[in-house]
Amino acid sequence: MNQEEIKQEIKRLARERNALILAHNYQRDEVQEIADTTGDSLGLSMEAARTDREVIVFCGVHFMAESAAILAPDKIVLLPRADAGCPMADMVTAEGLKDLKAKHPEAVVVTYVNSSAAVKAESDICCTSSNAVNVARSIDADELLLVPDRNLGRYIAKHIDKKCHFWEGYCPTHDRLKVEEVKRALEENPDAVFMAHPECTPEILALAHHICSTSGMYEYARTNPAKNFIVGTEMGILYRLRKENPDKEFILPSVSLICPNMKLTSLEDILHSLQNMSPEITVEPDIRARAKQALDRMLAVPRD
Ligand code: 13P
Ligand code: SF4
Repeated sequence: MNQEEIKQEIKRLARERNALILAHNYQRDEVQEIADTTGDSLGLSMEAARTDREVIVFCGVHFMAESAAILAPDKIVLLPRADAGCPMADMVTAEGLKDLKAKHPEAVVVTYVNSSAAVKAESDICCTSSNAVNVARSIDADELLLVPDRNLGRYIAKHIDKKCHFWEGYCPTHDRLKVEEVKRALEENPDAVFMAHPECTPEILALAHHICSTSGMYEYARTNPAKNFIVGTEMGILYRLRKENPDKEFILPSVSLICPNMKLTSLEDILHSLQNMSPEITVEPDIRARAKQALDRMLAVPRD
């Protein structure tokens, strides 16, 4: 089968199975093209919860499919590549979080959705990059435990007046962006604006004109009158930025802004997944119930 035939077969099978194909903004171009919806972590979770389709094909990484399974327990959630994980999510375990909670018994646990269901189950409330500050502000407590991203955690802490403790995890893709690389891009493009994802280091965020989630970047690029944008996040975002803004230029400051896990899923994987209805992602009922509470509390808070 050639690529065009694979796409047609995916569409036919998706109809037959009553499946919704969701793709994160970092997925390969051709995967984003075939998806019913593309979006950021929060947007896709909400889409999964709202759809009346019976099957969700989640083109992303494991924690995202798990969130969909938590929010939509009556649906079959497929992750076309079972090996697509998130190194940052793997940096914290439920046991590790329990130990940290024991050291800070008064602190409310705010956990980034980039985490396992078991870790969410140990948390009071979740957040994503598009609502993190609002979530933190909504909490009626003086002390927070921000898990697992040290960069997002410090970004949140700068915007609130609460005592914060951090889990020292990080996203290897965002964390390796260097100050020199951004400065060079800014020097080479003096009229460009720099938008950065809060998973970048505080030194990078200090250089940013705008800090936001992946979906926030589409909005910013569309509404900001600048012609040139330096993009501080994973390169998959360029597909839609360029498509939606053909008269604007988007510059990646570093070739290292690529997440290998996000790039695993191919059209062939999606096709096989729909053919075999696997790999299916499920969450054990007790963990699901507790993780859902943390996600539901987050969903009640508006985006930043
Ligand atoms: P958002 O899509 O929520 O901005 O998250 C970025 C990310 O790194 C997901 O893995
Ligand atoms: Fe995880 Fe970073 Fe990849 Fe997102 S971009 S899946 S946070 S490693």
